[in-house]
Amino acid sequence: MLTGIGTVLEDDPRLDVRLVDTPRQPHLVVVDSRLETPLDAKLFIPGRQLYIYAAVVDEAKKAALEARGATVIHCPGPGGKVDLAAMLQNLATREINELHVEAGHKLNGSLVREGLVDEFLVYLAPKLLGAGRGMVNIGPLSELTQAVPLTYRETSLVGPDLRILARIPGRDSF
Ligand SMILES: NC(=O)c1ccc[n+]([C@@H]2O[C@H](COP(=O)([O-])OP(=O)(O)OC[C@H]3O[C@@H](n4cnc5c(N)ncnc54)[C@H](OP(=O)(O)O)[C@@H]3O)[C@@H](O)[C@H]2O)c1
Repeated sequence: MLTGIGTVLEDDPRLDVRLVDTPRQPHLVVVDSRLETPLDAKLFIPGRQLYIYAAVVDEAKKAALEARGATVIHCPGPGGKVDLAAMLQNLATREINELHVEAGHKLNGSLVREGLVDEFLVYLAPKLLGAGRGMVNIGPLSELTQAVPLTYRETSLVGPDLRILARIPGRDSF
């Protein structure tokens, strides 16, 4: 699982499996440019592997986060942000080659703009919310040809919600 510091600070999520018994939790990756993850965040779960990728590493903060069980990785990119492509390559060296992103519109948008997303798994509730933050921060597009094309692969109902699996054409299958 991957999330961003915006979600950690706003929602304080656990991002764990808890509706079924499981002997192990999924590894968690946090994109946190300036190591702002709070030491009392709920995502620190004993026994779970937690990787925090940062652009700027303060050694005292790093030591404090590692004392809580995280692995802090220095991965600087342009503009003081994390180099997302280098992060994925680094994760691959740790034998992590499938990543489920559960992040906000900024990080989602950066991953899409950099061509790092293969597919979308969208759960659509039957509700109208009006203007919001959106799912992916891209655009504004000046013409429709600039849109990110998708191919629907599966649709199903999950309770009252619609589950949509869509792929970006041409991306690798896994
Ligand atoms: N399923 C859902 O509906 C869902 C899921 C998750 C989150 N959310 C919502 O999303 C909101 C938070 O959205 P968000 O977009 O602010 O948070 P986010 O996607 O969790 O994290 C975005 C942050 O990641 C950091 N980042 C580091 N390197 C980056 C890079 N190369 N490119 C882009 N970002 C980089 C940026 O922090 P710096 O500016 O410090 O560099 C950026 O502010 C929350 O309200 C949460 O509830 C919704």
